Amino acid sequence: MPPSYRIVNAANFPNACIVAVDYAETALRALQSIARGAALPVLPIVADLLTFALPRARFDAILNVNFLDRALVPRLIDALRPGGAMLFDTFLIDQAATGHPCNPDFMLRHYELREMLDAMELLRYRETLVAYPGGNRAWRASALAIRRGA
Ligand SMILES: C[S@@+](CC[C@H](N)C(=O)[O-])C[C@H]1O[C@@H](n2cnc3c(N)ncnc32)[C@H](O)[C@@H]1O
Repeated sequence: MPPSYRIVNAANFPNACIVAVDYAETALRALQSIARGAALPVLPIVADLLTFALPRARFDAILNVNFLDRALVPRLIDALRPGGAMLFDTFLIDQAATGHPCNPDFMLRHYELREMLDAMELLRYRETLVAYPGGNRAWRASALAIRRGA
């Protein structure tokens, strides 16, 4: 799976300010180094998302990739401005059969993502076995949704 930052194309968002939150400083340092090379304006914030005070109606887009905290999802939606987009992409429960990850807490049940984003306008949704260049495969649930009210 390509890291989530690869989804962001700097050429399309020349004035964007990209905020990256992680409680692992090493992860943010690695991201920063790649972002610098790609001239991406990333603002790293070392914080625990469980307690981090997300601003309300602030972000144009939120990417949640390879991460699942069910309790966080309503707060992420709330942090989007009306008309803002959420891209959500992480493991589906079918992935458990492969052994990694193996904790169902970190995998979405079938149609669970669709229900979690119920209040949003769903533009794209899929639950499928994704094949990556290089041969890796993974069961994923993915959604692109817009916060209503623009
Ligand atoms: C599997 S990695 C995915 C990283 C990135 N999204 C990607 O796709 O390459 C999950 C990340 O979530 C971070 N993480 C887990 N729980 C967190 C929390 N409560 N607050 C902030 N970051 C957290 C971990 O430190 C780790 O860097």
